[in-house]
Amino acid sequence: MGVWITLVLALIAWGPERAWGDAGAGAILYQSRCISCHGTQGNGKGPAATGISPSPPDFTDPSFWKGVTDSYLLHVITNGLGPMPGWGATLSPLDIDNLLEYIKTFRKR
Ligand code: HEC
Repeated sequence: MGVWITLVLALIAWGPERAWGDAGAGAILYQSRCISCHGTQGNGKGPAATGISPSPPDFTDPSFWKGVTDSYLLHVITNGLGPMPGWGATLSPLDIDNLLEYIKTFRKR
C-alpha cells in the first residue's frame, strides 16, 4: 500500500517537466529534418543556417537550457518560430518528444 502511494506521488512530482521521448529515435529524425540548420554538433552552425536571422540557438550552451522549459520547446518545434518552420503538420507529438529528448543530449554541463 505505502509503496503505491510513494510511486504515485513520485510520478506526479516527475510529471510536468518530463518528456517521454526516446533520444535514439529523435536522433534519426534530427538527421533528416534539423541538421541542415542546427548542425551535427547542435551548435546552430548547420550549412543552411548561414544568412538566417536570428540564427539557430546553440544547444550545447547550458545558458540556452536555463531560459527554456520543455513545454515551451515542444511548442516551438510544433509551431515554428521566426525563420524556423513548424513540424506539427508532418511529425507526430511522439516524434517531437523524441526530438526534444535528443537535442538535450547536445547540452554541455
Ligand atoms: C530552416 C532552418 C531550420 C530547421 C530545418 C530547423 N530549425 Fe530549429 N531553429 C531555426 C532557427 C533560425 C531558430 C531560432 C528562431 C528564433 O530565435 O527566432 C530555431 C530555433 C529552434 C529551437 C529553440 C527555440 C528558442 O526559443 O530558442 C528549437 C528547440 C529548435 N529550433 C528545434 C528544431 C528541431 C527539433 C528541428 C527539426 C525537426 C528544427 N529545429 C529544424 C532554424 C531551423
